[in-house]
Amino acid sequence: MRKLTDEVTFRHGATISTRTAQSPMLTNSGLDEKVSPDTIDYYSARSKSAGMVIVEYTSVSPNGGPSRSWAPDREQLAIYNDDFIPGFKKVANCLKKDGNKAILQLVHSGREAQYRHTLGGQVEVPSKMNFPWIDYPLHELTEDEVWGIVKDFGKATKRAIDCGFDGVEIHGANHYLHQEFFSAFSNRRNDFWGGSLNKRMNFAIEVAREVFKVVKENAPKDFIVGYRISPEEIHGDNIGYTWHESQQLVKRLTELFEFDYVHISTNDYTKTPEDSDKNYAQLLGESVQKPALLLIAGGINTTEKMNDALKYVDIVSLGRSTLIDPQIAYKLKTGQNDKILSEFNEESVNEDHLTPGLVELLTNMDYFAIPGVEYLKTLSDVKLADVVTHDGTN
Ligand SMILES: Cc1cc2nc3c(=O)[nH]c(=O)nc-3n(C[C@H](O)[C@H](O)[C@H](O)COP(=O)(O)O)c2cc1C
Repeated sequence: MRKLTDEVTFRHGATISTRTAQSPMLTNSGLDEKVSPDTIDYYSARSKSAGMVIVEYTSVSPNGGPSRSWAPDREQLAIYNDDFIPGFKKVANCLKKDGNKAILQLVHSGREAQYRHTLGGQVEVPSKMNFPWIDYPLHELTEDEVWGIVKDFGKATKRAIDCGFDGVEIHGANHYLHQEFFSAFSNRRNDFWGGSLNKRMNFAIEVAREVFKVVKENAPKDFIVGYRISPEEIHGDNIGYTWHESQQLVKRLTELFEFDYVHISTNDYTKTPEDSDKNYAQLLGESVQKPALLLIAGGINTTEKMNDALKYVDIVSLGRSTLIDPQIAYKLKTGQNDKILSEFNEESVNEDHLTPGLVELLTNMDYFAIPGVEYLKTLSDVKLADVVTHDGTN
């Protein structure tokens, strides 16, 4: 039986001290897409948060982000040239200082890179079509441009290695470019990159090939490589893909490449699809080729749920609960389970070091519903005033 406090060793030799990961979560803290003092403050507070901390989605290409920005100095982070290295070195160092692993999540945000449009750049998609919720122009990528993005994932991986990260996670979930290529709804191409299920997998496969090539040539032997996936894309009548197709994708990816783990992104880890009694972790777990390990995120916010989720996965991925309490893994490991904070309050606010961008996001979007968010709202005015100050406009 798996225990939360078990050590876990990945196939290439890296060991983490508990069966926990911090789920990647944007901090909206980038300044010109670079790591800012707010970013460092947030990640420094999370060196004991989980066996491995997966740093937020970071764009690999100039047009791979920023996605929505809340203010000019609160952006998605990027790593598309060497100027980004010094900032990320600091992030990797501060996360690793207590022995946890630091993983960088790599993304091209595809059609979600709307702030790139505001900055005068183009927003890139597999197929140019009318998405009713999008009110900015889209650029359909040429075959060669897609190959360029594949290379960008490799170059970003090299930079992550140079920064001292212990691994990278390819972001194949949550409607960004990877998912847009895999989705039959968003990918209407008829070339190498689309036209059949197998071809819709080609972007994921070629990015993985490039990333593993760079890792083999440049990284320590125990470098970790993961892949994140949303198990289904179904919005009413618009079906991008089902779990049956996800099973095929994770099978191909873990047959072809030595992935250390596959990470399922959900909002509820217990959820089952329409046509099965099994949950997504069980279903995708049947297809992930061992020794790749399995992670799932989605509402795992108590130790009871963590233990329950370990029936299905090797490592539990904790998102919002690590925003409230950034020392969950440490408390688990030292037998202080009863001290884990589960809502924002006076005590948590001294510990959580949220960025102003996160405070704004959490207090404005009910979607993120976090216990105690009302308390956070009472403080947000102060935090937002700070942000204006370091923009120099206050
Ligand atoms: C504020 C916030 C930011 C997020 N940013 C990312 C991200 O950068 N990359 C990603 O793959 N998922 C992102 N997610 C999704 C989380 O990784 C996680 O899958 C989700 O919150 C469900 O887990 P939870 O219920 O433990 O929070 C984000 C979620 C939140 C709440």
